[in-house]
Amino acid sequence: MRNFPATLAIILLTGSVLLGVRRTTDQTEFFESKVRPLLARNCYQCHSEQAKIVYSNLRVDGRGALLDGGTRGPAIVPGDPNSSQLIQAVRYENLEMPPTGRLSENQIEALVEWVEMGAPWPDLEVAGGVRTSDGQSNMAANQSHWAWKPVEKASPPPVGDTMKRFPGDFSQSLRPRKPAASTAIEI
Ligand code: HEC
Repeated sequence: MRNFPATLAIILLTGSVLLGVRRTTDQTEFFESKVRPLLARNCYQCHSEQAKIVYSNLRVDGRGALLDGGTRGPAIVPGDPNSSQLIQAVRYENLEMPPTGRLSENQIEALVEWVEMGAPWPDLEVAGGVRTSDGQSNMAANQSHWAWKPVEKASPPPVGDTMKRFPGDFSQSLRPRKPAASTAIEI
């Protein structure tokens, strides 16, 4: 192998790109299976777009909202769970969140791990449309979707001799039948 260094470089580069993709997929899976449902079930009632009163002006339904935080400042410090108010609150250190009862150790650990990995909040394409990473509806992306386009009158292509539409020998061996009588029923 004369070009060994170049080959090695290509192998290493491909490997690290693949690892990068793998890591992102793992983080997305982790977030979607452990973190998003946990926040939705235990916090959205008081800290989200759908809450009647958004307590402490904090929303936890998007990364941007968490970084903006509530009246006490940012709720998370990506990479630093111990300094994150959200983590302190679920550990019942200063505040006690959720107020109705402490999360399980596994749930708290999942949140800690998520903040540790930088609190990734992948975009999610859901029935309600494309969402940006902070959970907002991405209008620009949504409006380019066909479902948002006005209905247009389309003119179908001319049909002509049906058999001519089939390429090659097909049209040689098959012939259309005569139009059936209007009373005929084919089985
Ligand atoms: C039943 C309503 C309710 C639920 C559910 C709830 N919270 Fe809260 N949250 C509050 C209230 C009320 C405050 C304000 C407490 C205070 O200021 O003393 C608050 C404040 C906070 C704060 C401080 C924000 C700031 O800047 O002042 C954090 C962080 C927080 N909640 C996180 C959470 C998390 C995470 C969950 C889910 C695991 C959760 N909360 C679930 C009612 C709720």
